[in-house]
Amino acid sequence: VCGKDQHITWQEGAVRREAKERALQQRGCVIWFTGLSGSGKSTVACTLEHALFNRGVLTTLLDGDNIRHGLNCNLGFCEEDRAENIRRVGEVTKLFVDSGLIALASFISPYSRDRDNVRARLGPRDFIEVYLKIPLEMCEARDAKGLYKLARAGKIKGFTGIDDPYEAPENPEITLEACSADGRPQCPESMARTILTYLES
Ligand code: PPS
Repeated sequence: VCGKDQHITWQEGAVRREAKERALQQRGCVIWFTGLSGSGKSTVACTLEHALFNRGVLTTLLDGDNIRHGLNCNLGFCEEDRAENIRRVGEVTKLFVDSGLIALASFISPYSRDRDNVRARLGPRDFIEVYLKIPLEMCEARDAKGLYKLARAGKIKGFTGIDDPYEAPENPEITLEACSADGRPQCPESMARTILTYLES
């Protein structure tokens, strides 16, 4: 069911996005972080938000764990629920972008189709996909939340990378190698700088 099948009319706002962007002196967009659990999405997103704040840029940060405490607390991790999670978050980011903000969205978002749907909804100019590329073994070795251990023990079913898929993006705007060849983690500040450079250009 969507609006066009019902007796619902689109209501135009009185203040256009461009006017809001002029007032804020910035341009809205979504920076969409995707990657395995423990790949560093949230850390880089936080670091980037701080750097943007220091430059006087208004942002909002949407993080998988947090959104699942509220807006999406009724969703689990089956394919259908993950799709609905990403669809709702995509709609929320659109509201922020249409208000001239930079929305930082940090979600595993394991399915290409779900990410591409958000890209299509936002439009290519407003959607910047950032892929945190890291071998599964590194995430598992880190296991900051102890979830990989639980997944290996069969105590969490359908864990991304263990017994659930992760489809890496084929053409992300930015790929961040989240660890160096010798297995050392990249510093979040340098990864955030890469995104800042992209935004500035
Ligand atoms: S998704 O796939 O985009 O809908 O997931 P997301 O909303 O980003 O939530 C990911 C966080 O949920 C925790 N968690 C799981 N992750 C993956 N698979 C399963 N089954 C699972 N169960 C709980 C985990 O803490 C994820 O956070 P991050 O920050 O990615 O580690």
